[in-house]
Amino acid sequence: MNMRHLLAATVGISALTVSLAACSSDPADDGSATPTGDTPAASADCNVGIAMPTRSLERWINDGEGLKALLEGDGCTVDLQYADNETDQQISQIQNMVANGANILVIASIDGTTLGPVLEEAAAADATVIAYDRLINGSPNVDYYATFDNYSVGTLQGEFIEDQLGLADGEGPYNFEPFAGSPDDNNAKFFFAGAWDVLSQYVDSGQLVTPSGKAPASVDDWQSIGILGWGSDDAQAEMENRLSSFYTGGEKVDVVLSPNDSLAVGIAQALRTTGYTADDFPVLTGQDGDKAAVSQILAGEQSMTVWKDTRLLGERVQMMIQSIIAGDEPEVNDTETYDNGVKVVPSYLITPEVVTADTVQSKLIDSGFLKPEDVGL
Ligand code: BGC
Repeated sequence: MNMRHLLAATVGISALTVSLAACSSDPADDGSATPTGDTPAASADCNVGIAMPTRSLERWINDGEGLKALLEGDGCTVDLQYADNETDQQISQIQNMVANGANILVIASIDGTTLGPVLEEAAAADATVIAYDRLINGSPNVDYYATFDNYSVGTLQGEFIEDQLGLADGEGPYNFEPFAGSPDDNNAKFFFAGAWDVLSQYVDSGQLVTPSGKAPASVDDWQSIGILGWGSDDAQAEMENRLSSFYTGGEKVDVVLSPNDSLAVGIAQALRTTGYTADDFPVLTGQDGDKAAVSQILAGEQSMTVWKDTRLLGERVQMMIQSIIAGDEPEVNDTETYDNGVKVVPSYLITPEVVTADTVQSKLIDSGFLKPEDVGL
């Protein structure tokens, strides 16, 4: 714990009486706190600002509301804000949270490189900063990072494609169209690298060919095929453009690497518009388990999604906050991967998993992540 935390924790401890003891994890434990739920902290000492990027994508609505409910259950005061994917709006929301006395900030950044100055204000006010899902770059004032294993998301997508197409057995050539996520999102680099580290050997061997020429020359060129802001409409326009420009002689797309579900929804729409049906849809990947994408999976139009159970991420952040309020060091499980350019941010990475049509019921519905009626079941 650094001095700033020590100070914050000390102030917190002196202000808290009985309720702190109730909120604390077992003092003898190793930091692996479990959420107590029925043991509220004093709200005056747990004042959390949650900054989410946008309401336009399903997952952030679930993330924000889920986390707010958990923290309010612990007696915290919570200010949850969404920023329309506008960086300036997110900065002023965080400024307001600090001005209103937030002692903990949970931030899913829009552009993780732009928050340095506002985090200096947060540090001056002794707020503890947890980067949520996306790393915040270029600032020393990021205390913890809670996320899924982002590289592994890409690996799962790449291995799925490898497996479905029999690439390791030498099958091919296949027509392959790769996409990447928003160039300003630090996660997008990890998603692409995870997939590309599996697939690039098959591009090199000629088993995957890209008629559009949009396969990046190297993994570091991923931004050249990034869809800014992760918009379905932009992904659709890009896929329609590739289809109408490079598939004019009756060629078919066999496989599309889509880093997430919002892009997969746009890509599938472009394929439908161009006459593809469930019978000849390409292998198409995704991520998140969004309702629209899961409906596509059940319709045979999307092959898989990498499911990140965002309830687990919320619970993880809840545990981190309970530890911080109690003056303990939150549990982390990765102190090497996430270098933000100034420091390696102590991280907790949760393991993502593949969901296909065969496992929608057992994984997404039975666990309560989605309701049957959300996906037409
Ligand atoms: C998240 C993904 C999400 C994407 C678009 C990424 O940072 O990790 O789960 O699909 O943003 O919102």
